[in-house]
Amino acid sequence: MNTNNQKMSSRRFAKTSAGNAAEKLISRQVMEKDDFVALLGDFGNQETGKRLKEEALRLRTQYYGRQVFARGLIEFTNYCKNNCHYCGIRGANRNAARYRLSQKEILECCREGYRLGFRTFVLQGGEDPFYTDEKMAAIVREIKRRYPDCALTLSLGERTRESYRLLREAGADRYLLRHETADEAHYRLLHPAGMSLENRRRCLYNLKSLGYQVGAGMMVGSPGQTLWCLAEDLLFLQRLQPQMVGLGPFIPHHDTCFATEAPGSVELTLYLLSIVRILLPGVLLPATTALGTLDPCGREKGLLAGANVVMPNLSPLKNRKQYELYDDKACTGEEAAECLGCLKQRVEDAGFTLVSGRGDARQL
Ligand code: 5AD
Ligand code: FES
Repeated sequence: MNTNNQKMSSRRFAKTSAGNAAEKLISRQVMEKDDFVALLGDFGNQETGKRLKEEALRLRTQYYGRQVFARGLIEFTNYCKNNCHYCGIRGANRNAARYRLSQKEILECCREGYRLGFRTFVLQGGEDPFYTDEKMAAIVREIKRRYPDCALTLSLGERTRESYRLLREAGADRYLLRHETADEAHYRLLHPAGMSLENRRRCLYNLKSLGYQVGAGMMVGSPGQTLWCLAEDLLFLQRLQPQMVGLGPFIPHHDTCFATEAPGSVELTLYLLSIVRILLPGVLLPATTALGTLDPCGREKGLLAGANVVMPNLSPLKNRKQYELYDDKACTGEEAAECLGCLKQRVEDAGFTLVSGRGDARQL
């Protein structure tokens, strides 16, 4: 596959020189947009790359030692009322074979996950109106009743503040909602009319104010993304101060408007992982499946760039391929136990230790 290396020869536009921007980030000063632009403009400069990676690794060790946390991912519905242009399970995709897991099936995934040692479950799904607040709250309550020692993360997209409140009250601890891009025009390019960056931001701030540990994040190399979009993303993360950041390369899906676009760059994703680790040193930062899909050693490289979380799949094997956000998704053929075993090996090969436990974010 051709990778989209995103021409970033923008140094001439930046007021801050690249080296200075890296040092400013490392000395933990508040970064301005120009600083981020300069930093991103220096992507490809080996010296800066090395400096950022070393600092990212130093910080992840200071905050988390050699630990890598495993989260059990349960993709419980691929129905979605949204139509994000990049996503394989967008509602308009008639070719997607849809499925929903019942409460019983979800609980079976948790049981197997618990047996394997997971102490965080992530319930992720499309925006599926079938799962009303009542249904979702009942699922959350039952998981927390059976596994009170586990953290429960939800990733259900945009809902009302009241809905988030009910789910929080039912026991949900964390919520992942990638902002996707913090640039208005870019947001409109990636999403249909009716979705807005403003609402996405509002959701994230609502979640925060309700006491969730919040995860935001973006795809790297999504169509139309420029250096300025990424600088806006970093600025947004600096303002939001999320406990988690999901960051992976864009990968085209054959049934979307972006089928023929080039995938994002693995190297740029790694560069950004290091920057985010330095920007938010205590953050929980997954080495994503998308990274492992584009590069067979992507997740190991992610860990070495500053990531400290992996999210093996606990979804039933029969549904695994159906949760196809992008083409050739990794880990769709393995049972949960196999996937965990494989990841454990990968984590150890990269010099880290896979740990169970809730793994809450350290104070930022
Ligand atoms: N490539 C990479 N990541 C994608 N996502 C959705 N579609 C794609 C794609 N084609 C990501 C989005 C979403 C998360 C669940 O998956 O960032 O928030
Ligand atoms: Fe899932 Fe390797 S991590 S099979």
